[in-house]
Amino acid sequence: MCGIVGYIGDKNCVPILINGLKRLEYRGYDSAGIGILQDKKSLVVKNKGKVSFLEDRIENLSLNSNIGIAHTRWATHGIPNEQNAHPHTNHDHSIFIIHNGIIENYAVIKKSLLNQGYKFNSETDSEVLVHMIDGFIKNGNDLQKSVQLALNEVEGTYGLAVIYSNEPDKIVAARKGSPLVVGLGDNENFIASDVSAILAHTKQVVYLEDGEVALITKNSFSAKTIYDKEIQKEVHEITMTLEEIDKGGYPHFMLKEIMEQPETVRNSIRGRIVLDHGTVKLGGLIDVVDSLVEKKRIIITACGTSWHSGLVGEYMIEQFCRIPTEVEYASEFRYRNPIVSKDDAIFFVSQSGETADTLAALREAKMKGALVLGICNVVGSSIARETNAGVYTHAGPEIGVASTKAFTSQLVVLALITLLIARRKNLSQVDGKNLAEELLKIPEKIEAILKLNDKIEQIAEKFKDSSNFLYLGRGYNFPVALEGALKLKEISYIHAEGYPAAEMKHGPIALIDENMPAIFIAPKDSTYDKIISNIQEVKARGGKIIAIANEDDDDIDNLVDFSIKIPQTIRMLMPILTVIPLQLLAYHIAVKKGLNVDQPRNLAKSVTVE
Ligand code: AGP
Repeated sequence: MCGIVGYIGDKNCVPILINGLKRLEYRGYDSAGIGILQDKKSLVVKNKGKVSFLEDRIENLSLNSNIGIAHTRWATHGIPNEQNAHPHTNHDHSIFIIHNGIIENYAVIKKSLLNQGYKFNSETDSEVLVHMIDGFIKNGNDLQKSVQLALNEVEGTYGLAVIYSNEPDKIVAARKGSPLVVGLGDNENFIASDVSAILAHTKQVVYLEDGEVALITKNSFSAKTIYDKEIQKEVHEITMTLEEIDKGGYPHFMLKEIMEQPETVRNSIRGRIVLDHGTVKLGGLIDVVDSLVEKKRIIITACGTSWHSGLVGEYMIEQFCRIPTEVEYASEFRYRNPIVSKDDAIFFVSQSGETADTLAALREAKMKGALVLGICNVVGSSIARETNAGVYTHAGPEIGVASTKAFTSQLVVLALITLLIARRKNLSQVDGKNLAEELLKIPEKIEAILKLNDKIEQIAEKFKDSSNFLYLGRGYNFPVALEGALKLKEISYIHAEGYPAAEMKHGPIALIDENMPAIFIAPKDSTYDKIISNIQEVKARGGKIIAIANEDDDDIDNLVDFSIKIPQTIRMLMPILTVIPLQLLAYHIAVKKGLNVDQPRNLAKSVTVE
């Protein structure tokens, strides 16, 4: 989604801003722009397409300035083109602004601004902001006050940064519903929508909260609310390193992140298992665990891949904790006036911790009195901060748009939470210990699966030209079928559907012919015989079959065209293993099709708009 980076200090801001934008490319975007003050005059360059194109365009312009802002845009209002790219400027180009989010009442505001004689150069909602600020400045207000007054009139979400040439020593930034962080340096300060954009320069950051407007100069930072109340902000130290957000020798972030999973899963488990007692210790839930185990119902709310991990969580919690559990799309939950009470605990699962629908669902649930808990990857993210308590997944920064290591870490955390609750209820110490021991063995089992990478690449070669795929699994592996299909769709643009295997005969079987590959997730568990019957049904109709099966399952090779053999574990943990070959298969198919794996078309890493 859109990205923001800004700089004020003694250095030339241009390379800092361009490198910052490059760090934000993973979020997904379709145009890029930069605005600086050179000799106290504004200079804006923007274009459709990549940051590298912007970099080429400015190469011969001899830009040199110590204050500037830059943006990557992911189109919402208006097509991706130069006019709609940010920064947007006022009539005399003295003010320029970059904006993430959506101004929902922009049409009404635009009409009023047009009536006042303002001219618009773009189709965006964002442009109203620069003209509103212009109006307030004309009425005698300074930049910060004008931004506050403008934001009092807008409905919607924003992360924004503005520069005004008559106040050339400041950047004003504001946030509501779209993340923004201020980076503090020596005689220089930064602004960014994501710490990765400024990590090369500082680790001291201040997170802006909704409704806050920051005033940033080269050696000072202060914040007020949009209603002009002064606020004291806490400075945080970032623990993430630059190496963590580099490709580390891999051709794509996605492959690096798939390959990192033995380590990321270890990190999710580390220090949390109390083996002798067959239980776990989750610091983030200590204050709420007594209340959590007494809840009458658990709801898991999320979007996309995180929703799939929620579905696995439902199976885990109902099997081991015997608490009725429901899983909801956050986008549906937030608008359907859900029946929620203080007897419910609601988990909000999110890699980014910034997904707009999940955040809105969280606020709705909190307002209705439920215990709201987060399972987030990004430390200090909005969902992590707004929940009553929660558990971090510790997967490290995930840059590839297609979520991989975040998913397996979410499954680990859901397993840990299940064990925590189950031990407080009916699970014996021996059974708890067995479960914990199995969890501790998962990283080495993932290592074994990753060794199959070459074989999976060969299978990808055979299937890269197929235009449809069916993914089928049962029980714990039904959500894995959904996740496998989503991975393929996202990065290879091949149509794929995930189904519970038994549902196939209720409709999708009509699609089966020699051109429709079916991927069966068929580990040896209580539904193995049933899934073999489903495989037979596809085979009888000439469908091509790939099976994810267990290492000791030789019989399955007589039935399927290709098999990928993986280690065994207990049923509840099997999805952490079965998903890995599906991630690799999607990755290799997309690479063989020559597609941009890390930044697939139309997708954004963190969906901060509805
Ligand atoms: C996953 O591959 C997707 N890119 C997407 O479905 C993602 O999982 C979803 O947008 C939720 O994101 P979150 O986990 O950051 O909330």
